[in-house]
Amino acid sequence: MTTPVVQLRAITREFSGSVAVDAIDLTVERGEFTALLGPSGCGKTTTLRMIAGYLPPTSGTILLDGVDATQLPPERRNIGMVFQSYALFPHMTVEKNVAFGLRMRGVPAAEIRTRVGEVLELVGLAHLARRKPKELSGGQQQRVALARAVAIRPSVLLLDEPLSNLDARLRVQMRQELLRVQRETGLTAVLVTHDQEEALELADTMVILDRGRIVQQGPPREVFQRPSTRFVAEFLGYENFLDLPGKGPVTIRPEHVGFLAPGQKAPPGAEAVEATVTAVRFRGTDFAVTTTVGDRVLHAVTTDDALRPGASVTLLLPLAQAVPLPGDDIDARHATPDQQECPA
Ligand SMILES: Nc1ncnc2c1ncn2[C@@H]1O[C@H](COP(=O)(O)OP(=O)(O)OP(=O)(O)O)[C@@H](O)[C@H]1O
Ligand SMILES: [Mg+2]
Repeated sequence: MTTPVVQLRAITREFSGSVAVDAIDLTVERGEFTALLGPSGCGKTTTLRMIAGYLPPTSGTILLDGVDATQLPPERRNIGMVFQSYALFPHMTVEKNVAFGLRMRGVPAAEIRTRVGEVLELVGLAHLARRKPKELSGGQQQRVALARAVAIRPSVLLLDEPLSNLDARLRVQMRQELLRVQRETGLTAVLVTHDQEEALELADTMVILDRGRIVQQGPPREVFQRPSTRFVAEFLGYENFLDLPGKGPVTIRPEHVGFLAPGQKAPPGAEAVEATVTAVRFRGTDFAVTTTVGDRVLHAVTTDDALRPGASVTLLLPLAQAVPLPGDDIDARHATPDQQECPA
């Protein structure tokens, strides 16, 4: 076993008495890509700022490469950080921006030139080395910020929603770039994101935060397919919450709910329910369908463009794909995630 790059032990941060990060334990292994996900205000940025040393924890311990770094200033931690706003120096050229951290660390000029050249090559910006930030597109500025963070060869790269300012297409493209850079350099990275797709695509480990606490973590596929609480399930797009006789509380993704054609019988392992369509939303490749079954709302997905509100349909609930949510009392709780009790 190698020493983990980052270990947070019961890290807590309060702001004037209110707890932003609540006794988080987190281990990041070398070469691993970890994604922190959660709703706005759940403590993602605060966690990164404590790892980087910009914000002292109220209590708890931060180990970097196995050494207690809780009290170290940022410049004595070997950490690269990319912010949501690229935070480039506007008066410096691309190459000067990228060289900045190396100059601060007293790296000799000849080596700075080589390393700046290498990282600009890595992010595909060598031809723009002499430009100023304002002469670059958002995506290009983002790459400069990434190059600057990578240039110091940090033991961990912290990324705070680095792609959220980019348009949808560029975001997907940059996601691939980021993954390539991380794989090519073998960097350890912690990415904060709102975007579950981004986390699913990039992360080795996905960590879900709710009000300052980790509520679930694991490989993306496992977390996505087996959310352990209603909060995590809702965050990951599970919309149907049911109490099944004999099974207890379960959740089913809308895209797993089928439609039974008239006269057909439900296949084994699925339950047919009569429902009334209340809304149909076009989403580009399919339609999100809202239905009611008595006083319950069920969500499904269809490619049938003839479905209209008011239609009677037979939904097919695939019980085999229902994810049990033990410990969740669904009927006692019609609350939104924000109003739910924090799991102890
Ligand atoms: N400097 C500060 N002073 C007071 N409260 C703060 C400060 N920084 C953060 N907070 C509070 O701490 C909580 C967590 O904030 P944080 O910025 O970590 O959230 P986040 O998960 O990054 O949210 P977002 O997704 O919106 O960026 C919030 O309730 C926020 O208002
Ligand atoms: Mg934030």
